[in-house]
Amino acid sequence: MDLTSEQKAILDGAQGPYLATCMRWLVEWGDVMGARRLIRVDNTHALLPVPNLMARGASQETIEQYVEGLREACRHRTAPGCYCTVHATFVTLDQIDVKENDPDQVRMQQEIADMAAEAGFIPTFTCAPYLVGNVPLKGEICAWTESSAVVYANSILGARTTRHGNESAIAASLLGVVPEFGVLLDENRKGTLRIEVSAQLGCPTDWGALGYFAGKLAGLGIPVINGARRPSQDEAKQLCAALATSGGVSMCHIAGVTPEAATLDEAFYGDVPQQFIPFTDATLREMYDSLRHRTGDEVDSVILGCPHASIREIAEIASMLNGKRVSEGVRLWVNAARATKAGADAMGYTRVIESAGGTILCDTCPTNMRIAARRIVTSGFKQAHYARGMVGAEVIVARLGPCIQAALAGRWMGDE
Ligand code: F3S
Repeated sequence: MDLTSEQKAILDGAQGPYLATCMRWLVEWGDVMGARRLIRVDNTHALLPVPNLMARGASQETIEQYVEGLREACRHRTAPGCYCTVHATFVTLDQIDVKENDPDQVRMQQEIADMAAEAGFIPTFTCAPYLVGNVPLKGEICAWTESSAVVYANSILGARTTRHGNESAIAASLLGVVPEFGVLLDENRKGTLRIEVSAQLGCPTDWGALGYFAGKLAGLGIPVINGARRPSQDEAKQLCAALATSGGVSMCHIAGVTPEAATLDEAFYGDVPQQFIPFTDATLREMYDSLRHRTGDEVDSVILGCPHASIREIAEIASMLNGKRVSEGVRLWVNAARATKAGADAMGYTRVIESAGGTILCDTCPTNMRIAARRIVTSGFKQAHYARGMVGAEVIVARLGPCIQAALAGRWMGDE
């Protein structure tokens, strides 16, 4: 890769060993991916997580070493002019009654959050930064972790980011550059697979089903969605999250919605394939069936807000729960960014949800926290996909209405 003299100097240690390491991460990654240069990054969404409960098997020394690496990152300022936010973690920093919240983890995570803020990061602690102010413009170069947000940034906002891991996003935040490859370049943003939608998509979870289908087929490619009506923000959020779950997708095009794809022709750079894959009402049902594994009807966990809920979703949940009570033995989680919850507090939605027995969970989600459950009902295809492996629970993915019904009844009542 061609480096400027300043970049070479940083690599050689002119700004200290940690920034030299960061530069080495970016250069080695760029070399492997065929990048020819480092370019300025405008916006990052990094991940600074204290190891989660999975790491309990690790020695205290290993965890401490890892956390010291996070402290070291936060001893450096973020790059001037770069808008840097920080992603969700494995604990909640709120003082709410969640017995699985590990006090040692919380203490360390709070320390890292404080240091990150000092360093110039905005600790949004969410997997959906675009809901709480980090909304890059079309063409902005980003370095985002959280695959669902990556797909959203590329496909809905028209920003440009490859899929980042912890180290590369930290390095980009501190150095203000990223290796130029993949979907940062025009030639790699051309659609590779045409999906023609005839199914009636009625709600965000239906769009999640579409994303789950398209992601499986696309692999590392770029699916082009055609024939569907324009999604709402919540529907686009579900689509993008599911695309990144079943496949290694970095972006999709929705003809007429993606800023650079006003038409099918633009999505395929004038080379529209005649062959397409249909997404019908039958396919829609198959996708739901593919994430429904249950040996009984009793439900002990209902998880909403994956990716983190918008204020509109919280308002809808509150209106469905108003004056009702979640069944004994069911934990109803609504995951949200703390900034969104602050709005929900001010608007009275939190009180309604809590009065019904639900919990608004900030900074994380039950699956990331590895909160044990036997049978989960969730409105998120991503949550359903990962909960099976990470929590070992049976899962039922469903639209919001049946999720709320299951929470109130304590059992799966079927679709509406
Ligand atoms: Fe977010 Fe958890 Fe889903 S961190 S994207 S709510 S798996």
